Amino acid sequence: MQTVYDLAGLRAQVNEWHRAGGTIAFVPTMGNLHEGHISLLHRAREIADHTVVSIFVNPIQFGKGEDYAKYPSTLAADQEKLAAAGLDLLFAPNLDALYPGGIEEDTRVTVPGLSTILCGRFRPGHFSGVATVVSKLFINAQPDFALFGLKDYQQVLVIKRMVHDLLMPVEVIGMPIVRETDGLAMSSRNSYLNAAERARAPIIYRTITEAATALENGETSIAELEESGMKRLAETGFRPEYFSVRRSTDLEEPGPGDSELSILVAAWLGNARLIDNVQLRLKTPLL
Ligand code: PAF
Repeated sequence: MQTVYDLAGLRAQVNEWHRAGGTIAFVPTMGNLHEGHISLLHRAREIADHTVVSIFVNPIQFGKGEDYAKYPSTLAADQEKLAAAGLDLLFAPNLDALYPGGIEEDTRVTVPGLSTILCGRFRPGHFSGVATVVSKLFINAQPDFALFGLKDYQQVLVIKRMVHDLLMPVEVIGMPIVRETDGLAMSSRNSYLNAAERARAPIIYRTITEAATALENGETSIAELEESGMKRLAETGFRPEYFSVRRSTDLEEPGPGDSELSILVAAWLGNARLIDNVQLRLKTPLL
């Protein structure tokens, strides 16, 4: 596995691969890698001739008071995991490489609508930060495929919309959430949980799967389901931001005729902001 730290090194390698007719699958990350990330790399290796992973903690997608400064940096351990999983090229730029003019006056990419609901409501500017850095990475890594975990379901839709609207020649692939044995979605931020919080954390997944079962069994009051999900999380020590049933395609509120639904949640537990989601298909569309 090769590691490059600058854009010139990244471009030289991807140009060489493309000139020889090879395809490239790309997995952007912020490091502190877990099995969820590695599952993306495994799939990337199956679908393309060459694989690129980036590790970059992107300051502009963190709000004031969020965890940018303390976001875990584990480059050496990440390199070992990636090499063991058969990665070809790791791109690990520093801040200047991706933001040569600094971050204040930098050009931003914004996907309207989708970016201001759910997580976007509680993290203003977050999705614009994500869309901006992913654009920079796509332009330079020139991938044929890009893989993202569906734990960040809204992020995947934002990136798909951006790629569609900006006519970027890359196929964005959302990959299934990888979970711990007790159901907790794997996340770099799980390391912020203390032992007691970690033991309680799977409640978040249980709450959304129970709501999904209720919907599949014919429950029709979405407002009541959302309210009881919020209540259950608050009663079990979480500080929920939202617990929402949405249309899977565009995350709008579901209406008559809709049957492809997602239940999405964001809740704080101690110092960790946890997100999770499930998708379901109703046998009978909503009336
Ligand atoms: O999901 C992440 O880790 C980040 O949001 C991403 C896509 C690497 C952009 O910084």
